[in-house]
Amino acid sequence: MTFKVLLAICLVSGLAAVNAEDSEITKFMKHLEVIPDVLDEGPKHFLKITYDNGILADKGVELTPTQVKNQPKIEWQAEAGTYYTLIMTDPDAPSRKEPTMREWHHWLVGNIPGDQLNKGEVLTEYVGSGAPKDTGLHRYTFLLFKQPKKLEFDEKRLTKNQGAGRENFSTRKFCEKYKLGEPLAGNFFQAQYDDSVPGLYKQLGF
Ligand SMILES: *[C@@H]1O[C@H](CO)[C@@H](O)[C@H](O)[C@H]1NC(C)=O
Repeated sequence: MTFKVLLAICLVSGLAAVNAEDSEITKFMKHLEVIPDVLDEGPKHFLKITYDNGILADKGVELTPTQVKNQPKIEWQAEAGTYYTLIMTDPDAPSRKEPTMREWHHWLVGNIPGDQLNKGEVLTEYVGSGAPKDTGLHRYTFLLFKQPKKLEFDEKRLTKNQGAGRENFSTRKFCEKYKLGEPLAGNFFQAQYDDSVPGLYKQLGF
């Protein structure tokens, strides 16, 4: 009875229903609506994301674009002989309120052998937060998938100097196309504009 009432409230308010079996990271993602804005099923495990000076991107913490300028270190428990795909994406482009370019993807690496991220195939090079002025907090979401096998990616390769082509990305469609299934691990941080953002736009050719 009580559960039904709660479920009804969740459905009416448009939020994903919280299940007792949800992993901790899934609960955080539902709380800040990364689920359902990016994906339906949350990851089982926390992905460890460490920026310069040991700054952790964890559970939706607010960081600044300056803090996340450089590519972070990503750690997970890998299985030998397995390939992984890493996605970093922002559903809040250009703002969470009006996400007309949802999603803007920041980083895409496939065919990562085990936990050796630097040996993966970089499809889109890393860029940090470029949240436009006065657009509030953006949710930068990292997801790690276990690949069924080594894959042939036919995505257009994008360097860190290319902004165009990163918009209108769909994590759901990408996962469907390459049969990646549900994410193994994930995490996210939030950030809003600071005065390092114009420098990033210059880098991206905006
Ligand atoms: C991205 O999607 C929006 C909304 O659907 C559309 O107006 C825009 O033209 C798309 N941008 C590109 C580059 O395809």
